[in-house]
Amino acid sequence: MCGIIGYIGKEHPKEILLEGLKNLEYRGYDSSGMAFKKGKEIQIVKCVGKIAFLEEKLQNEKLIDCNIGIAHTRWATHGEPSEKNAHPHQVGKITLVHNGIIENAAPLKKELEKEGVKFQSSTDTEVMAALINKYYKKDMIGAINKAIKEVKGSYALAILNEDEDKIYAVRCQSPLIIGVEKNGYYVTSDIGAILSHTNQYVLLGENEVVELTKDGYSITKNNKPITRKVETSTLSTEDSSLHGYEHYMLKEIMEEPILVDNFIKKYINNLDALPDLKKYHDIHIVGCGSAYYAGMIGKYLFEEDGLRVDIDVASEYRYRNIIYNDKTLVILISQSGETADTIAAMRKAIEHKVDTLAIVNVDGSTIARDCTYKVLIEAGREIAVATTKAFIQQVLVLSLLSYKINKDDTYLEDLIHLPQQLKVLLDKSGYYKKLADAIYKQEDVFFIGRKVDYAISMEGSLKLKEVSYIHSDSYQAGELKHGTISLVNEGTIVFGIITDDEIKDKTISNLEEVISRGAVPIYVGIDDYGYENQILVPRVNKKLQPILVVPTLQMIAYYVAYKRGCDIDKPRNLAKSVTVE
Ligand code: F6R
Repeated sequence: MCGIIGYIGKEHPKEILLEGLKNLEYRGYDSSGMAFKKGKEIQIVKCVGKIAFLEEKLQNEKLIDCNIGIAHTRWATHGEPSEKNAHPHQVGKITLVHNGIIENAAPLKKELEKEGVKFQSSTDTEVMAALINKYYKKDMIGAINKAIKEVKGSYALAILNEDEDKIYAVRCQSPLIIGVEKNGYYVTSDIGAILSHTNQYVLLGENEVVELTKDGYSITKNNKPITRKVETSTLSTEDSSLHGYEHYMLKEIMEEPILVDNFIKKYINNLDALPDLKKYHDIHIVGCGSAYYAGMIGKYLFEEDGLRVDIDVASEYRYRNIIYNDKTLVILISQSGETADTIAAMRKAIEHKVDTLAIVNVDGSTIARDCTYKVLIEAGREIAVATTKAFIQQVLVLSLLSYKINKDDTYLEDLIHLPQQLKVLLDKSGYYKKLADAIYKQEDVFFIGRKVDYAISMEGSLKLKEVSYIHSDSYQAGELKHGTISLVNEGTIVFGIITDDEIKDKTISNLEEVISRGAVPIYVGIDDYGYENQILVPRVNKKLQPILVVPTLQMIAYYVAYKRGCDIDKPRNLAKSVTVE
């Protein structure tokens, strides 16, 4: 949530920061701002709305000639999206940008007000600026250390102090890295913001304070020097180009066959590189949103392999009374590797000294770093806020893990043909558009399925509602008649997902029940039942079937959102990486 970039070096920061913010915009996009520094002068430019509005505003401003700047794109937590709540915030000599949430901002604010601070915004961030300003006499690092001792919550901060030509930065439970390049130094919450300048970066540990000058940087923790190695990112700037597509969501869906193919080629003869789940008595799978639904698919696969599996969303798991044993494995699924609740669930497992397995996209992220084992899903950079290709890669990893537990005959043969079959399905965009025509004026859409088809339904439904803003829900097919069926009437669209031979007749009956109450069915499955609206996917090994079904639902969600004129890559109220609880 929210994005930070700061630059100090030889060049004017405006273009660097602007480009960085554009690359970070997927993390939050309700307002943005920049601060430029020369000598004692700090110039702040802020704006409500997209980065394009800030760009326009900057064009009309006379900017100071300088080589130090910090910038921010916001996803509001404390205070509505407005210019006064946009970052940077300035109190006294301190100007800063912040990602995260200061949980005890309210009592701190009261105290600071008693001491005479007059706050301009409703943000928790301004409290942080006031605290550092309060403690700053001559020693900036000392002031930061004192301030962070008083706050509870999460923060990544890039800080300017009127008295020094430096940028300071510190983080806790919110990502922040240093970028290293010959012409300057960067601080950013996401390597993607600086990739066109450098792929060299340094990770920052919790509460390590970094001091950046135009000639170098130093890191301390509790005033003691820290040495950290410079790492090289394998991501490329290519990842952020649209390649002729109108939206990242479509581009990223279209990348799925090649990503699946690459992943298969890497692991097909190298299954030993994947962890063996057979040695565990209990598997807990934890994630949020789509990552949780990918986990749900994993649960059904592992259960059929004979494992005992518990699954929960991270925001619940972290507060539950979980019984662990020494043969428990907790699997944390996360595209970003920085989702606050998933990190908390991981920490809980680590505290209980059980093994943890990260299934993540972003290497170097907190979850990738701190788990006992990690499998990188290798989806490349995912920019559209709604996840698509990362979901498919997560399911692919779970499918391979399942195959490793229980090697059934047809799997490898089907695996080899999977990318091509997926490509053929994705090439039917005309058909998805036609279905979108039937859906885009609806107010409610339902998805039903049983077992793994229910997990697929959950993801299909989430995708549709988050990008198109049509209300949509998913139910276990057998559960519908226990209440929800009362919502079904003439013309209601009901998706029936049916890929599991064992229970297909049951779900077909449930679909017929809604049809007889006026519903218009869209059948997605492997057998041809002759429905007017049906998406037939090739029959493959059960462990692979979701990889062919989910992309068709992603396509439909995309085209429905398109027809409704939605902001597909940046749906309202969302952000790519949810780093607050
Ligand atoms: C939905 C979506 C979210 C994420 C969720 C977890 O399209 O993208 O539901 O799946 O916020 O994010 P990660 O995977 O980064 O932990």
